[in-house]
Amino acid sequence: MAPRVLVVARLPTEWLEPLQTAGLDIRLAPELADCHAALCAAAADADAIVSLLSVPIDAEVLSAGALGRLRVVANIAVGYDNIDVEAARKNHVAVCNTPGVLDSATADVAMLLILAACRGATAAEKSLRNGAWSGWELTGYLGKDLSGARLGLVGFGGIGQAVASRAAAFGMLVQHHARRPTGNPGYVPDLDTLLSDSDVVSIHVPRSPETLGLIGSDRISRMPRGSVLVNTSRGGILDEGALVDALASGHLAGAGLDVFDGEPSVNPRLLSVPGLTLLPHIGSATWATRESMTRLACQGVVDVLAGRTPSNLVSAR
Ligand code: GLV
Repeated sequence: MAPRVLVVARLPTEWLEPLQTAGLDIRLAPELADCHAALCAAAADADAIVSLLSVPIDAEVLSAGALGRLRVVANIAVGYDNIDVEAARKNHVAVCNTPGVLDSATADVAMLLILAACRGATAAEKSLRNGAWSGWELTGYLGKDLSGARLGLVGFGGIGQAVASRAAAFGMLVQHHARRPTGNPGYVPDLDTLLSDSDVVSIHVPRSPETLGLIGSDRISRMPRGSVLVNTSRGGILDEGALVDALASGHLAGAGLDVFDGEPSVNPRLLSVPGLTLLPHIGSATWATRESMTRLACQGVVDVLAGRTPSNLVSAR
């Protein structure tokens, strides 16, 4: 009997080619994303799960799966904060993700938000659509130049590095902070120093107990007045209330968010504060990138089920 792979996602089936080529028994079950009890029951009957960042793969799902024959969960995302990795380890379930293949697409969206926040694009577009644009004015819609601005990257993994090369092409002066020295030029060991020396800050760390609330009111207040803050990583790393306060007081000139704490709910205060561009978590949302992510997650499943170590292993069985 071919091993069963539960795919908790709605997607073009040709993206599942690695599973098909390996002759696995593919069960498409996107509806399980909305029913935890049914997901636990289905996990008990599967050898592998292909999941999304919006699907909680918690200790209950993993222990139910391990009571059956579950051997691997592969997330179609680089972030895996939706998966209880400790519970996966305890239950001898491997975890895979999709590093690398989404770096460019996500870095593009970080640049989009940096540009939008620096140039006030969201408010400018809104004024045009509202009929409030009265004509070209020398001092109308003035923003900040990217060229010559200091960009501080919080986190310097694949996405942070892809933002760095794009920003350098725009003439930005790029520095970065990471927990450990990166050996790259522009490394700043102290996060607070990076923040106080940056005109634009972009966040690129995974969500974890260590990074939850990493950028709160105290750290935002260290950023220079008139600076800009962008988050394309995960909600909860940036304190949204503190961000709204800093925009409302004018301490921050602009901001951009692609991710939210508790998404898809969006804190209503974010919707009305000026200077903020909001996107619905589209960092990796291009056809080619989402297909590559899906294929990589599937390849992880195929490798684990065949007893090989996948290139995209987060945690072994
Ligand atoms: C997207 O947010 C991802 O983690 O892949």
